[in-house]
Amino acid sequence: MDIFDRIAANRGPLGSHSHYADGYFAFPKLEGEIQPRMMFRGKEVLTWSLNNYLGLANHPEVRQADIDGAAAYGMAYPMGARIMSGNSTLHEQLETELADFVQKPAALLLNFGYQGVVSIIDALVSRHDAIVYDAESHACIIDGVRLHQGKRFVFNHNDMASLEKQLERAKRLTDETGGGILVITEGMFGMSGNLGKLPEIVALKAKYDFRIFVDDAHGFGTLGATGAGTAEHLGAIEGVDLIFYTFAKSMASVGAFVAGTETVIEYLRYNMRSQIFAKSLPMPLVIGALKRLELIRSHPEYREKLWTVVRALQSGLREKGFNIGTTESPVTPVFLNGEISDATALTFDLRENHGIFCSIVVYPVVPKGVIMLRLIPTAMHSLADVEETIRAFEIMAAKLDKGLYSNAAQPA
Ligand SMILES: Cc1ncc(COP(=O)(O)O)c(C=O)c1O
Repeated sequence: MDIFDRIAANRGPLGSHSHYADGYFAFPKLEGEIQPRMMFRGKEVLTWSLNNYLGLANHPEVRQADIDGAAAYGMAYPMGARIMSGNSTLHEQLETELADFVQKPAALLLNFGYQGVVSIIDALVSRHDAIVYDAESHACIIDGVRLHQGKRFVFNHNDMASLEKQLERAKRLTDETGGGILVITEGMFGMSGNLGKLPEIVALKAKYDFRIFVDDAHGFGTLGATGAGTAEHLGAIEGVDLIFYTFAKSMASVGAFVAGTETVIEYLRYNMRSQIFAKSLPMPLVIGALKRLELIRSHPEYREKLWTVVRALQSGLREKGFNIGTTESPVTPVFLNGEISDATALTFDLRENHGIFCSIVVYPVVPKGVIMLRLIPTAMHSLADVEETIRAFEIMAAKLDKGLYSNAAQPA
């Protein structure tokens, strides 16, 4: 069959909804300044779907640093890959400051987080090695694992008995091949809000002899006494060998970095294909990241405010009987029962009649019959925003219970 004919007939699990989802549930346009109240299709909405955890996206000093960086350097400088011609003193300064912040000896900047994780995994393992990874890992981990030419073993999400079972299998294999084991998980899981069981995993190292790589995209800036992330929060920085962080969440920018020992970071500098064969991070992003990091370091009150909002939202939802799963972090899922048509109708109702904008997640990401609404609180939200949202959710849930969304209005 012709590839394009097949694509025309089968748009994929998400694309098959595009005829009614496009522009509303998928690819919506949130307009105006990045803040809790934004414009959606000409109406103001209270937004709970941006990972602007600390509120830096629209911070005046951040905006000014971005302007100054662009004015001084444009978007081109430095040209080329870091290894060839795209290095600068500020890139190196940012790496030193980031390593210091996350309490690791060295760090390496990455152009994009997603490709970065794929490429880190690719660079680290040989075909003699085994990868053992959490079943609910982000797509970038899954894609990195796909590139691995050796064996891979998946353990049930955060299930230490399942991890041990897979480690035993991996160990039997690597005893034969002479390779090593890489365990991969997330720090703060972006969908459920669960934290990876980092201390428990670290404790297994003595028995099975492996290295740990953690994707802590969401933990950076939000967790830990200094904001260094999930490993700091759980007291596991030393035991976690290599940690990835993105600039796409708390830093409210583009770019990412990985931190670990000097030897491993030096190895990655010379062996990560996504960095060697791609242009270096533009200077305005580096200058902007330095400013963001300075603000995160010097304003712990942003993180405290975030947590005030998180606690109010999560305890408020629980008190009203909502199932928010097992989150231990700002990510706040709300699980409801219903079909995809209920999900779209209730989201439409929330947006159009209550002015509440949040993301919906349906099958195949969650089981059939489950609707997940995901709320991302930020330091910019107020307690009044929380109350308004919980009131709207109560009205919505009562309607869902009565089956009123079955034939309800859908976006035009
Ligand atoms: C857990 C996790 N890892 C990696 C990424 C990818 O990062 P980036 O947006 O910098 O490509 C994301 C999303 O941004 C994420 O949520």
